[in-house]
Amino acid sequence: MLNIPKIDYNFDSNLHQNKNYLCKMNILLLGSGGRESAFAWKITQSTNCEKLFIAPGNAGTAQYGTNINIKVTDFMGIKQAVLNHRIDLVLVGPEEPLVKGIHDFFLADDEIKNIPVIGPQKEGAQLEGSKDFSKQFMVRNGIPAATSKTFTKDTLQEGYEYLATIGLPIVLKADGLAAGKGVLICSSIEEAKQELNEMLLDAKFGDASSSVVVEQFLQGIELSVFVLTDGTHYKILPEAKDYKRIGEGDTGLNTGGMGSVSPVPFADKAFMEKVERNVIIPTVNGLKAENIPYKGFIFIGLMNCNGEPWVIEYNCRMGDPETESVMTRIESDFVDLLLATANGKLNQEELIISNKVAATVMMVAGGYPGEYLKDKVITGIENVRGSKVFHAGTYQDKEEIKTSGGRVLAVTSLQPDMFTALQQATADASRIYFDGMYFRRDIGFDLL
Ligand code: AMP
Ligand code: GLY
Repeated sequence: MLNIPKIDYNFDSNLHQNKNYLCKMNILLLGSGGRESAFAWKITQSTNCEKLFIAPGNAGTAQYGTNINIKVTDFMGIKQAVLNHRIDLVLVGPEEPLVKGIHDFFLADDEIKNIPVIGPQKEGAQLEGSKDFSKQFMVRNGIPAATSKTFTKDTLQEGYEYLATIGLPIVLKADGLAAGKGVLICSSIEEAKQELNEMLLDAKFGDASSSVVVEQFLQGIELSVFVLTDGTHYKILPEAKDYKRIGEGDTGLNTGGMGSVSPVPFADKAFMEKVERNVIIPTVNGLKAENIPYKGFIFIGLMNCNGEPWVIEYNCRMGDPETESVMTRIESDFVDLLLATANGKLNQEELIISNKVAATVMMVAGGYPGEYLKDKVITGIENVRGSKVFHAGTYQDKEEIKTSGGRVLAVTSLQPDMFTALQQATADASRIYFDGMYFRRDIGFDLL
């Protein structure tokens, strides 16, 4: 017996079947995390999806489509899969292939150049791929962000001088992709000096820290805002709050994310209007004005500082575990939205969002975010009743599902109110077991 539950959840039926056209497509989704499991679930809710392929996927995505064992950065392998399976649309989950230019690769190849890729080209992906690029973009377009300057080893001396001028704590950011580890918050100038040395002189984060952004610390409460854009028009997807620390009460090491909640109570109408006016519109217009083509998601990491939104970072993709909560609240046909993005007609689509609350609790492997246990058998998924279980680091081993990653499963519940959603997701996580498992029992309770 496979211990994968049947896809039979009370919130699977909330899809609005308001399409006046039908176009059956084969879709290829790139990635293998909880975000991709949530995308896969949402895509197969669409009447527009004929077949879904996921590369490389995980044990959970295999419930919704066919996993293909190709790495997200194996562009030639991806091209072959696109041709073999007559793929009509590609959705890119993680940042790495985007920053490495997968969209450009498609456009440059006559055999696949007409197949839409959702995710920006290399230049737009620099919003995430280079902190210096994104800061300069924000400055040019008048987008509120912390004051900063960028240094290399040739300007180290100026860097030291700058450290003394910006106040404590000091934020240091490796310019390039550093697997979520490239941001350091230093509480003294001495510490900042030492870290700056290690980043610039000792390649602490490899090539990613050959350039370092030094910036002011922003005091406030964070949230994640997501925009889908076709380069001209945009839709604001449900916002979410992400819990990054491993320990309850937001303590301990940083992780990829231990849980998420959507909507975010403090992101009220007045605040979101400011976000749209001061951040989203200048971002989308700035990309257009600077001739940076962008069809895909923009994930804006924001700090709410006394009711004013300040941008901490951009990502060129959706967040994880935010996507699990965000997709759960989207009632519109997701493939329609992707198609309209590809065709530059996002303005013709209606985005319908549930006013229920989605909560996601991430179940992680023992030891995570340090070295963690692997290959542990997962049991009890079939006992979950009021939540969906999105797989992240899992694989199928004959009849069993085993753990392969640090973040193993995302348990997401959609309920009429926040308390019930949080309680249900937490209770359902307790119904699942694997050796060494851990999850936070306080996700979202600070928002009540
Ligand atoms: P990032 O890798 O850019 O997501 O940064 C990681 C985390 O560092 C963010 O989620 C924030 O919690 C924190 N952070 C980054 N920049 C700042 C800043 N200027 N002020 C305060 N916190 C920051
Ligand atoms: N949850 C944060 C991220 O996906 O980067």
